[in-house]
Amino acid sequence: MSESKQQYVIAIDQGTTSSRAIVFDHDGKIVSVGQKEHEQIFPRAGWVEHDPMEIWTNVREVVGTALSKASLTRHDIAAVGITNQRETAVVWDRNTGKPVYNAIVWQDTRTQPIVDELAKDGGLERFKATVGLPLATYFSGTKIKWILDNVEGAREKAENGELMFGNTDSWVTWNLTGGTDGGVHITDVSNASRTMFMDLDTLSWDQSILDAFGVPASMLPEIRSSSEIYGKVHGSQLLRETPVAGILGDQQAATFGQAAFGIGDAKNTYGTGNFLIFNTGEEKVMSENGLLTTVAYKIGDAAPIYALEGSIAVTGSLVQWLRDNLGIIRSAPEIEQLASAVEDNGGVYIVPAFSGLFAPHWRSDARGAIVGLTRFVNKNHIARAALEATAFQTREVLDAVNADSGVPLTEMRVDGGMVANDALMQFQADILGVDVVRPEVVETTALGAAYAAGLAVGFWNDTDELAANWNEGKRWTPNMEQSERDRQMRLWNKAVTRTFDWVD
Ligand code: G3P
Repeated sequence: MSESKQQYVIAIDQGTTSSRAIVFDHDGKIVSVGQKEHEQIFPRAGWVEHDPMEIWTNVREVVGTALSKASLTRHDIAAVGITNQRETAVVWDRNTGKPVYNAIVWQDTRTQPIVDELAKDGGLERFKATVGLPLATYFSGTKIKWILDNVEGAREKAENGELMFGNTDSWVTWNLTGGTDGGVHITDVSNASRTMFMDLDTLSWDQSILDAFGVPASMLPEIRSSSEIYGKVHGSQLLRETPVAGILGDQQAATFGQAAFGIGDAKNTYGTGNFLIFNTGEEKVMSENGLLTTVAYKIGDAAPIYALEGSIAVTGSLVQWLRDNLGIIRSAPEIEQLASAVEDNGGVYIVPAFSGLFAPHWRSDARGAIVGLTRFVNKNHIARAALEATAFQTREVLDAVNADSGVPLTEMRVDGGMVANDALMQFQADILGVDVVRPEVVETTALGAAYAAGLAVGFWNDTDELAANWNEGKRWTPNMEQSERDRQMRLWNKAVTRTFDWVD
């Protein structure tokens, strides 16, 4: 064993399109990265699945890549943090360690009939006062019920206590800590708050909601804080004996990585979808404008910190769709070239309601639309409209945040893949009418998970030390007349209404 003090923390980011492992140093700077995409499985319209075994294999591989790229071994690593795509449901057999079905991804809409059935008694807000969420296909609860109802033998096994459920944080943690050989079956409060089953006040599973869904409590992971030592990596793995010490859902992790620790601090992450999180401190605020109430994080024994969240299902994945389904571009970055070859969107608006519309509308009956087409329109306009859709949707969410909080945000911290796109960020600032600010380290999701783990093992002392690591990278200032901003939003709002009531 090396005598030297460990100088790094590693974060595993199990995301929607890929799994990554990133090593960070004490200043919060990236040392090395391993990344691998996994297959997106679309068995039918509206269905989206992942193979949990592929995900676990990839996680192991990217950890190896990140370590070897920087010539590090487990002796250099103080702790492991985990962050993940939230809501995506994995159900596996506790005796064999094998999933009973593919992971049902957060974007999947197959459970609409379950939502409708549950909403008959009390409407979509039936459980909102307890869990902070409306009934929707988005959250894990209906996905677990679907697996129990549709996979042969699953319900019986679940009732015999033979099955485990988890979002991918639980799946990775259980495997990392040994799987069938003593793996810990846990989740953190931020992930638990996305299942539809956790009482936001007591931070424990609500038996009456579990009964309404018909989900046995024995399947569920133990709910823990976001920053504590949960266990150690199993002896069979590269990081063996390293403490696993932080878990945060990816959006909450980005909030942590952006050092948005104060009441009123906010961040917006541009990934597959967009997720704006607004810190409301120890107070749990119920939205009146279509936002979710969620747990931001809980550090060890400290009180939980709550947040309002504006979730947008489709932003970056619209660019993927243009690439993979329409073939308009060959690679995602190409969209910026196409879009900047024209002066404006040529009157085209794309509303990517592929999974219905999430915040602030929560319209599961909506489906995507491209409106404003004329003979003048070419693929450059389509590309531009696709990027602009991200900015318009973000403006809708920001308006909801401002209405709920009563204090308008004066600037917005951003992160995620699409913030590398300068033209989009300028348009975002123009449409919002407030400054948009990107930090130096844009990998805030992984950084947040590393921070949570590092705090638990004393690698960092407190959140002040983390906040001191935050540095501004780039700022975009609005440069659009208010009348033009209003005109664009008017047309966008009209386009949105065209997507409603589209499901038979
Ligand atoms: O709620 C879904 C979200 O956690 C997924 O995030 O970054 O994997 O698209 P991302």
